[in-house]
Amino acid sequence: MKKKKAWQLTILVIAVIGISIIIGHSNSLKAASPLGKDTLTMITSPDYPPYEFYDTKGGDVYDGLRLRQIVGFDIDIAKTLAEKLGFKLQIMESDFNGLIPALQANRADFVMAGMTPTPERQKNIDFSIIYYEAKDTIVAPKGSNLKQPQDLLGKKLGVQLGTIQEQNAQKIAKKVAGIQLKQLNKVPEVVQEIKSGRIDAAIVEDTVAKGFAQANPDLEFNTIPSEEASGSAIAFPKGSSFVEPFNKVLQQMKDDGTLAKLVTKWFSQNTAANPVSSTPAKGGLNLDFTRILPDIPFILRGIPLTLLFTLLSVTLGLIWGTILSLLKILGIKPLTWVANAYTSVFRGTPLLLQLALVYYATPQLTGYDISALEAGVLTFTLNSGAYMSETIRGGIQAVDKGQSEAAMSMGVPYWLMMWDVILPQALKNILPALVNETIGLLKDSALVSTIGVVEILRSAQIVGANKYIYFEPLLFAGLIYYVLVMGMTLGASALERRLRESE
Ligand code: ARG
Repeated sequence: MKKKKAWQLTILVIAVIGISIIIGHSNSLKAASPLGKDTLTMITSPDYPPYEFYDTKGGDVYDGLRLRQIVGFDIDIAKTLAEKLGFKLQIMESDFNGLIPALQANRADFVMAGMTPTPERQKNIDFSIIYYEAKDTIVAPKGSNLKQPQDLLGKKLGVQLGTIQEQNAQKIAKKVAGIQLKQLNKVPEVVQEIKSGRIDAAIVEDTVAKGFAQANPDLEFNTIPSEEASGSAIAFPKGSSFVEPFNKVLQQMKDDGTLAKLVTKWFSQNTAANPVSSTPAKGGLNLDFTRILPDIPFILRGIPLTLLFTLLSVTLGLIWGTILSLLKILGIKPLTWVANAYTSVFRGTPLLLQLALVYYATPQLTGYDISALEAGVLTFTLNSGAYMSETIRGGIQAVDKGQSEAAMSMGVPYWLMMWDVILPQALKNILPALVNETIGLLKDSALVSTIGVVEILRSAQIVGANKYIYFEPLLFAGLIYYVLVMGMTLGASALERRLRESE
């Protein structure tokens, strides 16, 4: 009997501790309520060195679960602003085309992402004064000699989705014949497409193009002559009360030379994330893992998050699955019907779709700004509960009927009999199925990378994007998953053996 209690207790303890970690963590990441808030939330698109990018080497701040290593010109300005205004600063990320929607949904207090004020944008959001100016350039493989819009005749042209570069490219395409546009989510993806020859050129701001060209000696860039400079400003939700105080401090920073110092710090050196080795010869795949050696700790730090995520989803999924399975076998028609309908919906739709719905729809439906991590755990719990409910139902029904009859005849109440007699045996029976479920969840945890959680896969992608190499980081991430799954399998067989011996 003692042993069985220990089982149930462990599950409850894991659930409670896990939930408090996640909630505590998300709260620390979330802005306090607008009244009496002490933290400003900024959202940026960290694909834009030297404005904002992931620093995968050194200087990391690891706050337990999430890596905060976004650095750059904008980040330094934001930190100074927050400090001078007496706020703590918290940084969130999204692709560039998600920044304005994030402001409109009040998910952040401001955006700094080298964003240019345009009349269309000003209809939906407010801007600060301009803090830096830049011009557009044409980036292309060395020797292409693409200097002005007319040279782009019949070319495939890449731009970042949602930027003014995309608009400018569209304008050029109206005048110059045969231009094919390709819109990508991130600037490093645009650069990668040039390097792999899928596009001929791209339109990129000069300050950014310079860094990429320095890091990639096989690229060149030319400033578009007629182009007038466009500026970067801070963006706020329409009507935000922060515009004034931000402008004041920005002006101070201009006047007292703080801004000029930051300009020198970030724009006068080679700040493009990392040096890049040249493109591998066509037709051959040369793997060189030494290229990612310095970034391995960065990737490894995704492991605790992945493990916590898995453990929590399995535990909560087990609890939820048990409840569902009881609803199914209780014999009360409407309850059985609801539980069955639930299971069929969650098994009948893709997990990735459920994840996106929970993450993006929750704030609109409930007003609660669910964090990516919370959305992940919630979705995985709901989904795996559906699968587990069937397994547990089978496990319960496999327990010898005589036992429940004996317990009932001794006057033990139904729920106590379930909790004390039937469930522990059912769990033991379904242990192999639970291990399978856990392994599945561990691997599926990679899906939360799509909503911005920096777990193993996402860390590998960040390293890949910074270095323009893809296979090595991905293969390394694959190895980590494999080792974790193997470890789990071994642990599970040991546990099973012990349980069998204790019988
Ligand atoms: N200045 C351009 C714009 O406002 C491009 C900014 C892109 N920023 C980024 N973090 N990717 O459209």
